[in-house]
Amino acid sequence: MLTNESLPDQMKVNGKQYHTIWPDTMNPAIIHCIDQRKLPFEFVTEQLTTAGQVCEAIRDMHLRGAPLIGVAAAFGIYLSALEHEKSPGIQQELIRTAGLLKAARPTAVNLKYAVDRQLAVVQGVQNPEKIISLLFTGAQNLLEEELENCRMIGKHGLEIIKKICRKKGNEEINILTHCNAGWLACIDYGTATAPIYLAHDEGIRVHVWVDETRPRNQGARLTAWELGQHGVKHTIIADNTGGHLMQHGMVDLVLVGSDRTTRNGDVANKIGTYLKALAAFDNGIPFYAALPSTSIDWNTDDGLSRIPIEVRDPDEVHYLEGMEDNMIRKIRITPAESTALNFGFDVTPARLITGLITEKGLCEASAEGLIALFSQK
Ligand code: MRU
Repeated sequence: MLTNESLPDQMKVNGKQYHTIWPDTMNPAIIHCIDQRKLPFEFVTEQLTTAGQVCEAIRDMHLRGAPLIGVAAAFGIYLSALEHEKSPGIQQELIRTAGLLKAARPTAVNLKYAVDRQLAVVQGVQNPEKIISLLFTGAQNLLEEELENCRMIGKHGLEIIKKICRKKGNEEINILTHCNAGWLACIDYGTATAPIYLAHDEGIRVHVWVDETRPRNQGARLTAWELGQHGVKHTIIADNTGGHLMQHGMVDLVLVGSDRTTRNGDVANKIGTYLKALAAFDNGIPFYAALPSTSIDWNTDDGLSRIPIEVRDPDEVHYLEGMEDNMIRKIRITPAESTALNFGFDVTPARLITGLITEKGLCEASAEGLIALFSQK
């Protein structure tokens, strides 16, 4: 029987516990979030008070990561209700906001899941006060569920790490991860990082290879920062290094997140994940995707042709951002005349995936595996 004992403390920033998003305790019309654009250079929080601001925060990646953008969108629908409390067409306004939120980032299915769930909660309700109260509770419930999902992913994923640890005679375990599937992408703990934090807290010697994750460098900037805050040993590598490390026995396990997992176990995740899966497969290294069930698209069974892949601004490829003289600056690294193309995600076919780690347990990346865990689907 699983219990919540021995789970890691909630994630801390300079020793203080934080979630990535939270409603103001004094004024529930204010939603706070961590503005991830400034990390690792500055730790800044932001206040969101309108659905438009939530849309912008999701689109421009003030906050990002599949579970987190779902929860933010749920609060976005709630803020929209607050804004249109006096409007006779409040339900139409919510539907309009829902469309804008869903369009902000198309690949992570959590966004659609959260928005549709909020609309369902208030379907047919006319009283604006009741709508507002139901939507606030709905968003808060989703936040708490996602937090618990990650805690449970940590518990289940830890078993994989322990098994490898036993096999290696308690030597240090090298885990490669891509992008940021850490607590910054969720509410707390993270998906791919939850088992790592738990292993670290249990005294298992873990070392994480952190893919830098061009073009936005979520690995180098965010994953490295949060692992460092929790004292987890890690090394940042250029994106192309993983294959070489795997060929030389320097990776024991690849752990990634997922933005959308189809019912047959295909995994859409940050661009470059597929190449890591190919290299892991070729070298016989276990490759697991960690995801809450809110990232499963039960209506899609062919990831390659059916998952919408976000295409982002080519400037993310043309420019690099960093800190110099205490200022965050952008520099161009490509010829002025060159064009760039910036797909945000790719799809790793189920056949390359050793298994999925969900809040309900581990399973094969297949329709049978997922249905066995989530029989109600
Ligand atoms: O574009 P991003 O930074 O939102 O992409 C995030 C990822 O690809 C994560 O790996 C994914 O959301 C899984 S997260 C817990």
